[in-house]
Amino acid sequence: MSTSESNILNGADSLAIDTAVRALKSDLLVAIPTETVYGLAARASSPKAVKKIFTIKGRPTEHPLILHIAKTQDLTLWSSDLPRAAHALAEKYWPGPLTLVVRRNNKVCDEITGGRDTVAIRCPSHPITTELLIRLDDAIVAPSANRFGKVSPTSARHVAEDFGDEVIVILDGGECSIGVESTIVDCTTNPPQILRAGAITAEQIEIDCGITVASASGESRASGMLEKHYAPNCIVELASSRKDAEIRLANLKSVGRIAEIIDFGADLEMYAHELYSCLRDADKRLVDVVIAVKPAMTGIGIAINERLNKASNSASGD
Ligand code: TXA
Ligand code: MG
Repeated sequence: MSTSESNILNGADSLAIDTAVRALKSDLLVAIPTETVYGLAARASSPKAVKKIFTIKGRPTEHPLILHIAKTQDLTLWSSDLPRAAHALAEKYWPGPLTLVVRRNNKVCDEITGGRDTVAIRCPSHPITTELLIRLDDAIVAPSANRFGKVSPTSARHVAEDFGDEVIVILDGGECSIGVESTIVDCTTNPPQILRAGAITAEQIEIDCGITVASASGESRASGMLEKHYAPNCIVELASSRKDAEIRLANLKSVGRIAEIIDFGADLEMYAHELYSCLRDADKRLVDVVIAVKPAMTGIGIAINERLNKASNSASGD
């Protein structure tokens, strides 16, 4: 793990955005802030730059990347045969924490999609990244800026911890306002399916747009659905209540383990905002076991539970 923070630039400084744009145009990678988590970006039109993402992250090439665009209208530049639901969801939620899986067109290189005929697209709402995309005059592809299988970064410092020596520009846009990755909706099925939970829920989509979205079924399409994702080094245990967590904490401490509780009560937004930071922090302090109190299965609580389940499964060797 590297700890260099010298390449963190203040993204509010216009010159820093220029530096990032120059780097991207030279096929280098740049870390960018978004409202969900920080991304590790490459210029979408450069297969050479896109390949670097897989190398630096240690990510298998068959795990496709999300394409990030400057504005809603750019959706049609990279897709084909858009169903009505995709248009409606983009209109309603972009810019924002929603990724749409749609049919790709031939502007999208194979390196981005792992050769699939679909592409995941999102229009992020962080103003620094919007400005970067406008000045670049291209789309970027950006996975979360963490090593493959590890916890996503929600601050520039987190990115520097993972990639400080390898990514020459980390644009600092402050702490990510949401803190968990975007909702992914596959619009190539009827009805559309949620492949990854996020801040925008199926219930909200139904209320806002009158579109029914199903839970994921069939062959797994989003890597996060199956694998050891979002895993810190410490063991993550889940507790159904604060009281259960405290009993477990006392047990662990009595046998000499370093343990702590993550719990934000009914404040689900705060839970999402702090979760990855808490897990990264626990690893730094060499905590053995984190006991996370499961939030309510409502709103962004669904996404938090999904991430916690994955973190706890991988820690037990799943
Ligand atoms: O909030 C986010 O979405 C963040 C920020 C940086 O934008 N990005 C992010 O990217 O979480 P990543 O690479 O960590 O996760 C992308 C997910 C993976 O689970 C991948 O399998 C899925 O998107 N995905 C990408 N293209 C897909 C496709 N064509 N079909 C199905 N799933 C796809
Ligand atoms: Mg990720």
